[in-house]
Amino acid sequence: MTLRPVVEVASIGTAVPAQVVTNEDLSRTLDTSDEWIRERTGIRERRIARPDESLASLCDMAARQAMTRAGVAAEELDTIILATVSPDRRLPGTSCEVQAMLGATNAAAFDIAAACPGFIYGLSIAEGLVAAGSSQTALVLGAEKLSCITDWQDRSTAVLFGDGAGAAIVRPAGPDGRGILSTFLKTDGRLAPLLWIPGGGSLEPVSDKVLRERSHYMQMKGREVFKAAVLAMAEATDEALRRACVSADQIDLFVPHQANYRIIEATAKHAGISMDKVMVNLDKYGNTSAASIPIALEQALEEGRIGKGSLLLFVAFGAGFTWGSAVVRW
Ligand code: ACO
Repeated sequence: MTLRPVVEVASIGTAVPAQVVTNEDLSRTLDTSDEWIRERTGIRERRIARPDESLASLCDMAARQAMTRAGVAAEELDTIILATVSPDRRLPGTSCEVQAMLGATNAAAFDIAAACPGFIYGLSIAEGLVAAGSSQTALVLGAEKLSCITDWQDRSTAVLFGDGAGAAIVRPAGPDGRGILSTFLKTDGRLAPLLWIPGGGSLEPVSDKVLRERSHYMQMKGREVFKAAVLAMAEATDEALRRACVSADQIDLFVPHQANYRIIEATAKHAGISMDKVMVNLDKYGNTSAASIPIALEQALEEGRIGKGSLLLFVAFGAGFTWGSAVVRW
């Protein structure tokens, strides 16, 4: 059976901060080493935003690139969805600022918090809005300034994350069969305490105690998250393929969430996809959460690893726990 996509991903765009922070740099302030970080994660360096570099400004750059590539003017956008867990402010959503910066005067804009699979959640929401006829041209952003919610005194998390933004234009599919063939989203909120920011929200607003305990930063039980990630990524892979009615050997490029090389390897092995068909660039950017898949996609396009009609598999996992996947005919 061949599925006909309802929407296409017309283009993508990305933006990353210029500042590179290497493992060596981190080992000057933390009890860690380049060797430990590379062996346990595959990460060599990450991009970290300057204090005056806002999440909205990264989104603006990524969005403009995607819009130019798709030939879309700001007034044509009717929907802006920003997936992030590191907004510039708690109120309003950073998507509203992006809407203003772009001059997207006809767009409704809102943020979603779905952590690392946020870009896939955003694509799925945009697909639904377009399929329902409520949207014609949607901008989906996955963007993070994780450096601002990272505890730079905690070596178990500080070495993992980076900043960046990715954008995609989603619109009705044409007749050529290119577009989103399947999406799969799932959550298990019982596991939330394994990866969360316990303080600083409305349950425990910022106070001296919160600041003293540093509970307004990300906290993670890495080993438990690792195990859950491997299981969830496997389930998400199977489901996206099943729903798209395709087999793993038909996938031209697997573009997974870039959290840990060992998780990526385990997922590829589970699916029977050889590593030469897997896009890996966490060595350069670390884990940029919702931005990680579009940033990897951008590099794959630059390297000529994706052509018109290539069959792509996206799979991601993160805080929540949330996980999700998509099969896209490029
Ligand atoms: N440098 C040196 N040593 C370290 C560091 C560090 N940066 N961090 C931890 N260690 C030590 C630990 O203290 C521990 O020491 P001990 O054995 O003396 O107790 C040892 O290294 C091993 O620690 P583990 O946590 O068991 O190491 P592990 O092999 O599990 O690797 C890692 C840790 C990289 C965090 C891994 O568990 C992982 O990638 N987990 C998944 C993270 C993830 O995928 N998150 C995705 C979601 S992110 C989001 O949603 C925003």
